[in-house]
Amino acid sequence: MIDPWASSSVDYEKLVNQFGIKKFSDILENIKNPLSLMTRGVIFGHRDFNKIIPLINEGKDFAVVTGMMPSGKMHIGHKMVVDQLKWYLDKGAKLSLPIADMESYGARGMGFNQAKDLAITEYLSNYIALGLDLTDKDVLIYLQSQHNPVKNLAFELSKKTNFNELKAIYGFTPSTSISHVYVPLVQVADILLPQIEEYGGPKHVVVPVGVDQDPHIRLTRDLADRFRSDFSFIPPASTYHRFLTGLSGGKMSSSQPKTAIFLNDNPKEAEKKVSSAKTGGRESLQEQKELGGCPDKCVVYEMYVYHLIDDDEELKKINNQCREGSLLCGECKKIAGRMMKEFLENLAEKREESLEIAKTLL
Ligand code: TRP
Ligand code: SF4
Repeated sequence: MIDPWASSSVDYEKLVNQFGIKKFSDILENIKNPLSLMTRGVIFGHRDFNKIIPLINEGKDFAVVTGMMPSGKMHIGHKMVVDQLKWYLDKGAKLSLPIADMESYGARGMGFNQAKDLAITEYLSNYIALGLDLTDKDVLIYLQSQHNPVKNLAFELSKKTNFNELKAIYGFTPSTSISHVYVPLVQVADILLPQIEEYGGPKHVVVPVGVDQDPHIRLTRDLADRFRSDFSFIPPASTYHRFLTGLSGGKMSSSQPKTAIFLNDNPKEAEKKVSSAKTGGRESLQEQKELGGCPDKCVVYEMYVYHLIDDDEELKKINNQCREGSLLCGECKKIAGRMMKEFLENLAEKREESLEIAKTLL
């Protein structure tokens, strides 16, 4: 069972084999100008994405839905979603971006006002600073708690959902709060919303998420089928990206500040954090020069792959030098730290203006 509200480490192979998630690499070659997160295997799995590819390639109408739960600070791992949204908007998709304040209330006990503030100061302002145009006519942003169509749809969906099926997916017990039962239905409604008539549906939808969200995707696909005769829903497609590894090796998590680089971090502090990251280096300098390092096991290298280096050739060069033992971790961390510092300085410069725009969105 995958639990969307627990933090656990992930065996990606197993997910592909056991849960019916398909390998992204098998369909990659059909995509025109894929994102580097796709070609580099960061996006590793999908459901039904092969049905979205022709729409992307031919510029046809489809929608992308992905929500954010305002729970803490936005870290660089969250940036992956923004990179994908930029790509989709560019391809002509409609974006629907729910802010899951009902989820942060139900699952984290956070008040609605605080969730709204966090959504603006941490998420939306950074989304804009990262280059996603949230004022675009094709972008819809809403707070779940303030959006009647989504709440009404959640209620309608609940009519054909029973407790045992939710229990089988989420592992509910007799003492589970009913808000925990309600929250997934609101998320299902988020995902199906672009398909109702007032939003121009039915239409194809893709949901780019981390695998922790797959239980919600499976439930949505089942409910889409069950309500097919009422709404003509098409079961949504999804893609799954890997989690960014935290600085000390586990999952990067907002609730453990030492593991994460936050987008609002002081750039100099962030540079220091990079220098403390777990590397794929050897025990001694001597050994590293002889045997080379292991980029596949290195958090610093992962930062290059996910975020810091666009150019595939440059990335390959670092990979080779690392494995040959000609690039050593001290020097390498300096390079990555500098890149991170520059990236965050750049972002901070844009954030003042983007915060003003973000405030007008909710
Ligand atoms: N549950 C998601 C999270 O924890 C947020 C979310 C809400 C979402 N609605 C969604 C994600 C719809 C994808 C699609 O981050
Ligand atoms: Fe990682 Fe760089 Fe060290 Fe290689 S040289 S293990 S990429 S920090």
